[in-house]
Amino acid sequence: MELRLDRLTKEYGSKIAVDELSAVMNQGVYGLLGANGAGKTTLMRMICDILRPTTGEVIYDNCNISEMREEYRNILGYLPQDFGYYPNFTAEKFLLYMSSLKGLERQFARQRSEELLELVGLSQVKGKKIGTFSGGMKQRLGIAQALLNNPKILILDEPTAGLDPKERVRFRNLISAISQNKIVLLSTHIVSDVEYIAGHIFVMRDGKIMSQGRPEEIVKEVEGCVWELRVPAKEADHYIASYNVGNLRNEDGMCVLRIISGEAPDKSALQVKPNLEDLYLHCFADQGRGM
Ligand SMILES: Nc1ncnc2c1ncn2[C@@H]1O[C@H](COP(=O)(O)OP(=O)(O)OP(=O)(O)O)[C@@H](O)[C@H]1O
Ligand SMILES: [Mg+2]
Repeated sequence: MELRLDRLTKEYGSKIAVDELSAVMNQGVYGLLGANGAGKTTLMRMICDILRPTTGEVIYDNCNISEMREEYRNILGYLPQDFGYYPNFTAEKFLLYMSSLKGLERQFARQRSEELLELVGLSQVKGKKIGTFSGGMKQRLGIAQALLNNPKILILDEPTAGLDPKERVRFRNLISAISQNKIVLLSTHIVSDVEYIAGHIFVMRDGKIMSQGRPEEIVKEVEGCVWELRVPAKEADHYIASYNVGNLRNEDGMCVLRIISGEAPDKSALQVKPNLEDLYLHCFADQGRGM
């Protein structure tokens, strides 16, 4: 099982949303991390054969996906970022409806829908209207519909948007459980959503992959660049304005800043072990600081 992106490019007029991006994915969970406008959705829509690349190609097991057509759709599951749910449908009816759109046989669809409702923890509410569901319940239903055809490739565009912390944990466990024998690619701008479940991370910016690898591998890129500095609270603003500050906490009336910087921000700063969030902040250092 190999999904290969070969110099994929998408231009919208003069805007280059995805820029000669190449990557290879095999079985496992892949996290696509990037800020707003990085090109995540554009990339995913090309992988799903919904959007035609300006140049470059997506290749699954040595076949160009645009030539596979039906065959590719049969092995693909997709949860779009702006997925439209029908508020008046019940969860069960929705899955049966999606099954018919995917051309699944009726009897199979019934059984599969039951299994998936169980898997995503919605069996108890399968007869309730989607309009009454929480954000997390809707997302789980969205994942269920993407799994109807038991896809080999599962593409989830910001599946954790709007979830509360408990729902996020539940989501992560669900993804880990279903990822066997699949390529799962999920996009997010929340580092902790992929830090523990993705075996491989792509950090995307301006249509390109800035950094990729196993989480513990790519954090090495900022090794030696992460500092903790204790300063009186009134001095904190100075550092926030001049440095890439990832975190700050108050301790005994002092302010402890986590700073990402090539050089020590102060003689008293201590070097600390980097994490994925530090890398992310490093990659987006000049975008949206202080937000
Ligand atoms: N149909 C379109 N026409 C013109 N420009 C577009 C179109 N779709 C996307 N873009 C632009 O391409 C860039 C990438 O957009 P894209 O939606 O792929 O980013 P994203 O990483 O998914 O962002 P977000 O995190 O906000 O979902 C953005 O600058 C966006 O404005
Ligand atoms: Mg998007």
